[in-house]
Amino acid sequence: MLKIIHTTVLALVLSLPSFADAETVLITGSNRGIGLGLTEAYADRGWRVIATARNPAKADELNTLADKYDNLTVDELDVTDDGEIAALASKYEGTAIDVLLNNAGVLGDIEKQNAQNIDYDEIKFIMDVNVYGPMKMAKAFLPHVAASEQKKILTMTSGLGSMTLTQRLGRFYGYRMSKAAVNMAMRAIHADLKGKGYVIGLIAPGQVQTELLFASGFRGPGSITVDESVAGLMTVIDNINADTVGLPINYNGEAIPW
Ligand SMILES: NC(=O)c1ccc[n+]([C@@H]2O[C@H](COP(=O)([O-])OP(=O)(O)OC[C@H]3O[C@@H](n4cnc5c(N)ncnc54)[C@H](OP(=O)(O)O)[C@@H]3O)[C@@H](O)[C@H]2O)c1
Repeated sequence: MLKIIHTTVLALVLSLPSFADAETVLITGSNRGIGLGLTEAYADRGWRVIATARNPAKADELNTLADKYDNLTVDELDVTDDGEIAALASKYEGTAIDVLLNNAGVLGDIEKQNAQNIDYDEIKFIMDVNVYGPMKMAKAFLPHVAASEQKKILTMTSGLGSMTLTQRLGRFYGYRMSKAAVNMAMRAIHADLKGKGYVIGLIAPGQVQTELLFASGFRGPGSITVDESVAGLMTVIDNINADTVGLPINYNGEAIPW
């Protein structure tokens, strides 16, 4: 009798999902666009995914994914909210996070960031999300990343943050400043933590067909689907390491100049 109970309990335990050995990724802005694509792809790969969204109750597509994948959890996170960042870091205290993906970002109102009209409140809002958000996340989750195998903190930047490429077109002042600033912030954090095995890097998704791209007014030639971008980004994320981290890497593996 005892043996039967033992066997039954063992079978039950073995059938429960165990993510102890799976790599873990935390993604900001998981409810739509590139973040949603990355969330699904990592869940599909069998990683443990901590997907975050400002408003989980309204994140229908993300919640559908969470129903499908046992290895995906959804948490509330606005990257400008210090309290929410601290609460999430505390909730996952002791959890090793291999890849912290600072994906969340805003373009801002494009009519408020050009030579005719510069709205500094709008620029401050963009900086809060695109620069200070990733910096706060890196600080709050450093212990979780430190405890992992891969130790990667990767932030989504853009070719629009490149000084070298600036002369191609004007406008988007706040967005461009924010991506240039977050590039520098992440480089500085990487320099501070040098030699400790961290990979504090910058990745870029290409021109991807999302709400952000459509709001920018860009259309057509050169743009790619979320799936194409995500497939490339995952290879970039797999390959980036403490020796190769440096210039921002585009989804196709090409470096973007500073
Ligand atoms: N699409 C492109 O062509 C392109 C090119 C270069 C770089 N990027 C970068 O790629 C990243 C993803 O962009 P996307 O194209 O997927 O944009 P998207 O479709 O507009 O999605 C942006 C995501 O960021 C979230 N977000 C915005 N503010 C947030 C905050 N304060 N806290 C937490 N989440 C917040 C949004 O959540 P809500 O739904 O709650 O607003 C949404 O999930 C961004 O960093 C963007 O700058 C995109």
